[in-house]
Amino acid sequence: LHVAVLMGGWSSEREVSLTSGNGVADALESLGHRVTRIDMDRHVAARLAEAAPDVVFNALHGCPGEDGTVQGMLDLMGLKYTHSGLATSVIAIDKQLTKNELVPHGIRMPTGLMVASESLHSADPLPRPYVLKPVNEGSSVGVAIVTAEGNYGQPIGRDVVGPWQEFDNLLAEPFIKGRELTVAVLGDRALAVTELKPKSGFYDYDSKYTDGLTVHICPAQIPPEIASSAMAMALKAHHVLGCKGTSRSDFRWDDELGEAGLFLLEVNTQPGMTPLSLVPEQARHIGLSYADLVQRIVEEAL
Ligand code: DAL
Ligand code: MG
Repeated sequence: LHVAVLMGGWSSEREVSLTSGNGVADALESLGHRVTRIDMDRHVAARLAEAAPDVVFNALHGCPGEDGTVQGMLDLMGLKYTHSGLATSVIAIDKQLTKNELVPHGIRMPTGLMVASESLHSADPLPRPYVLKPVNEGSSVGVAIVTAEGNYGQPIGRDVVGPWQEFDNLLAEPFIKGRELTVAVLGDRALAVTELKPKSGFYDYDSKYTDGLTVHICPAQIPPEIASSAMAMALKAHHVLGCKGTSRSDFRWDDELGEAGLFLLEVNTQPGMTPLSLVPEQARHIGLSYADLVQRIVEEAL
């Protein structure tokens, strides 16, 4: 096959996407496919038209790329592509729209509140501790945990400096203490549960992409009913949203509350494919190499 791998672009996750995309492209070449690597820019449509691939592997993360824009362009061009389509991507990139879709289906998620960043100068949107996150970023970009002691040692107030300030659409959610879990779905199967134990206590950008800063436990050492429940929730979310190929659902689990403490936070439709990423790790757990995983994702797109 001739596969165009779309990567990079200009989202806040550009570097992560280049790592994912080059990893995928190397794997495709090792499988004998012809590969065109495309670092996305404003001329991406012309470059794709010229390449005329059999299929596009979308290795973009964030906006644009994970948010439906690129999917719509590929639909218009009549090109086949990996991962989720336009409508699913528009919803899943937005953590609040995702809740609107999934909660009525019985999937437990924290009740969030959209807030304007100006309003944070005068008051807390929720009782502390809470999490403040851009509604449509990935890799924990812009996420802050606001605790009783204040965020970065500061109370919310006129002088507060926080990572959220450059984002317009913020989501505030109660902070769920306990443990960080994730589940990959590939095709029709939830692969495993991984527990993430970041040494800093916060699974932020650095903890995600710096080797040695987070311990990954796969399969997670948790009660079997919690593991089954997380896998069932991830699979259901994948289906309700209409995800294609692969997705990864992230969870918090307050282990003092048992099953009632398990909350889905979000569904990632373009999960990372870097050497430290979780979908490749769970694929390995079920016996699929990185190249096997890439091949499976491509086959689903044909
Ligand atoms: N947003 C990153 C790439 C992930 O979900 O893995
Ligand atoms: Mg995400």
